[in-house]
Amino acid sequence: MSTHISVPPQLLLERILTLEIVRVTERAAVSAARLRGHGQEKPADQAAVDAMRRELNKLPIEGTIVIGEGERDEAPMLFIGEKVGLNAGPQVDIAVDPLEGTTLCAKNMPGAIATMAMADGGTLLHAPDVYMEKIAIGPGYAKNVIDLDAPPAENIQRLAKAKGVPASAITALVLDRPRHADIISAIRGTGAAVRLITDGDVAGVIHTASPEETGVDIYMGTGGAPEGVLAAAALRCIGGQMQCRLVLDTAEKRERAAKMGVNDPRMIYQIEDMVKGDCLFAATGVTTGSLLTGVKFRKDDVIETETVVMRSVTGTVRYIKAEHRELKKFHLD
Ligand code: FBP
Repeated sequence: MSTHISVPPQLLLERILTLEIVRVTERAAVSAARLRGHGQEKPADQAAVDAMRRELNKLPIEGTIVIGEGERDEAPMLFIGEKVGLNAGPQVDIAVDPLEGTTLCAKNMPGAIATMAMADGGTLLHAPDVYMEKIAIGPGYAKNVIDLDAPPAENIQRLAKAKGVPASAITALVLDRPRHADIISAIRGTGAAVRLITDGDVAGVIHTASPEETGVDIYMGTGGAPEGVLAAAALRCIGGQMQCRLVLDTAEKRERAAKMGVNDPRMIYQIEDMVKGDCLFAATGVTTGSLLTGVKFRKDDVIETETVVMRSVTGTVRYIKAEHRELKKFHLD
């Protein structure tokens, strides 16, 4: 008697894979966490990449990495265009940042995560690993309260008005970089507060979705494009607005982007342009930060992880605390 059960691909993507991708980010986080505080970014990143690839290749998908760690055949990394999965199941686009905050991990500082997003094939923005201008706010505001091209002070004033508070009650999260000096002083000029982070703007953008909890109303500034697409996937699940533009300031970058289908180098992307359909998003803490608890290696060899996994179809957000036993025995670590 046949026991074959056929699962509609959509159901597979929407429900079953939600928990499967947790394993992927968990394993990447555990592998990177073993190298926390060793001062070496590359080995930690490579460990996360290897674990992520190993787990992705166990999934019943025909996956393509569209946001990855390199653009050509950079074999050791999860490069853009790399095929992953068992080559059976739904065709999916995958965005990965196996170790978001490599410096944070190397220095054992708060906020390093392992993260990925998955969506139907052809629905995630294919973007080169360049910088991206970003602005993001949480849910509950009328469309276009923010405008990437408006001066930072104007965006703060507009947001304050929409929230019904003075500008001094607004907090903006910004990556602490010299390139953001003007943005920071413009924000402060309105009376608003600036919270600076040294790295990790995927979590930074996610924080805008729950301002009561995080105290962050708006994210502004320029960070990595891969991180921008991953953050857009998270906001697609939990709500919020985001506008982004690739920084294609050289002919070489414009050419690389064009090869990926970016015809208008000045285009402003909304969330729906970066993540065109439903998606899944997961992140596991490597070091403890404001979003997630980091990996704990217990004396009894049990490893604890915390993961947030989101699904846009329903907007469900799950925080999964896991205890892993015998990862080594089953060649999972
Ligand atoms: P990495 O893990 O790739 O180092 O990224 C960390 C990060 O802080 C991102 O969150 C952010 O988007 C990007 O770096 C900013 O780039 P830069 O460090 O060059 O300013």
